[in-house]
Amino acid sequence: MAILKIARMGHPVLHRVADLVEDPTAPEIRRLVADMAETLADAGGVGLAAPQVHVPLRLFLWKTGAGQAMAILNPVLTPLGEETETGWEGCLSIPGLRGLVRRAVRLRFAGLDIEGNRFEGEAQGLAARVMQHEYDHLDGVLYPSKLADPSQFGFNEELARAAAERRAREAEGGTA
Ligand code: NI
Repeated sequence: MAILKIARMGHPVLHRVADLVEDPTAPEIRRLVADMAETLADAGGVGLAAPQVHVPLRLFLWKTGAGQAMAILNPVLTPLGEETETGWEGCLSIPGLRGLVRRAVRLRFAGLDIEGNRFEGEAQGLAARVMQHEYDHLDGVLYPSKLADPSQFGFNEELARAAAERRAREAEGGTA
């Protein structure tokens, strides 16, 4: 296994539509998934799409609620219901920043595992958010193009400072 280099925003591989995985059981796909799992663990992320490691194929890994990294090849996501919510997102390809993005709360997913078997399931909350974020990578879409509020996008430190100042002001207001 190997830790792979992560492409950063601006690299063309992150801005194109990825290709279907033709042979899910090919040894190079198995190796890629193993390397992506190691890369994800090393980076401390919650999801990783193949284009992020310079491979323009439709597959991604995401961490389940149990903390396990799962791989899905040629995924299809279908929102369940109309409910959406905003939440903070970061991206290993856009280090140091985060932004507020609106996503479907619940979805149904279907795809192939590395044995070539079809599997499907439902996800909600954080897992659903991560899957939508990773799926976007397969279509060359990065989260800054989907911001719910452009003023809520920036460097982690600046946003944390602004939030702390807001809380302090609110606390003061509360005692007045
Ligand atoms: Ni990302």
